[in-house]
Amino acid sequence: TIAALTACLASSVSAKTLTVGFSQIGSESGWRAAETTVTKQQAEKRGITLKFADAQQKQENQIKAIRGFIAQGVDAILVAPVVATGWDAVLKEAKEEKIPVILLDREIDAPKDLYLTAVTSDTVYEGKVAGEWLAKDVGSKDCKVVELQGTTGSSPAINRKKGFEQGIAGHTNIKIVRSQTGDFTRTKGKEVMESFIKAEGGGKDICAVYAHNDDMAVGAIQAIKEAGLKPGTDIKVVSVDSIPDIFQAMAKGEANATVELTPNMAGPAFDALEAYLKDKKEPPKWIQTESKLYTQADDPQKVYEAKKGLGY
Ligand code: AHR
Repeated sequence: TIAALTACLASSVSAKTLTVGFSQIGSESGWRAAETTVTKQQAEKRGITLKFADAQQKQENQIKAIRGFIAQGVDAILVAPVVATGWDAVLKEAKEEKIPVILLDREIDAPKDLYLTAVTSDTVYEGKVAGEWLAKDVGSKDCKVVELQGTTGSSPAINRKKGFEQGIAGHTNIKIVRSQTGDFTRTKGKEVMESFIKAEGGGKDICAVYAHNDDMAVGAIQAIKEAGLKPGTDIKVVSVDSIPDIFQAMAKGEANATVELTPNMAGPAFDALEAYLKDKKEPPKWIQTESKLYTQADDPQKVYEAKKGLGY
């Protein structure tokens, strides 16, 4: 009957598989690689066709990829924006084609109507938690801190710096003596830490390193060891992400604290997208993921075992 045919057509329309383009930054860190894996798993689980583009850390490659997705007429676009500025034009193009865009793990400086929602942690809070942990740990002792910043111009680098400064505010015994970008990578984290150690009396004057991600902390740990010092003891190590490698370092006493960032940004993003496309349900502009502090008191070996299967 016509009624049956109409019902059948309607259900096949609603069951239409979604095609989503994902412009990923690259693979600068262990956390980033896990986010890529988890995003692919989440898409597969939901029957979503994911078109994946790796931008090799370049915004121009991301813009090109997004234009490509628009030209292909995808149903939605996920983007992990490498830096915070310069997105307005390409997002306007997506909006004109009525393609919803969801930001993953980093924020941008653009009018909010240019994207559907942003799934991110509170990156200022992450830095604050790291700073507060250090302030508590050192007590009234004088402490010279060196800081390894993330990618210049990226929202987590800007915010984790700001948050850490808030966390140590009022503790005049704690001073950030050097601060430089290590671009969120292990190699640069090690290189920059080596230069900090050289500049600060062979490292003996440094009390702690604050790294905007665990990969740079792992690089710094290597540099500290090569300088003949003990990471975790001579120089405290505090960072963000909570990747398995940092828990291994914590289990050995070579790192002290890390603030967790979930690599599962895609799960909440796809939930919001599906609700939006099916029921026109507008998500909030910010879907916040949790941040949790881990220290050596949290049985790092156990956390390591639990984490390593989860996309890492
Ligand atoms: O945007 C999230 C950050 O990007 C992670 O903390 C870092 O590891 C990654 O490169």
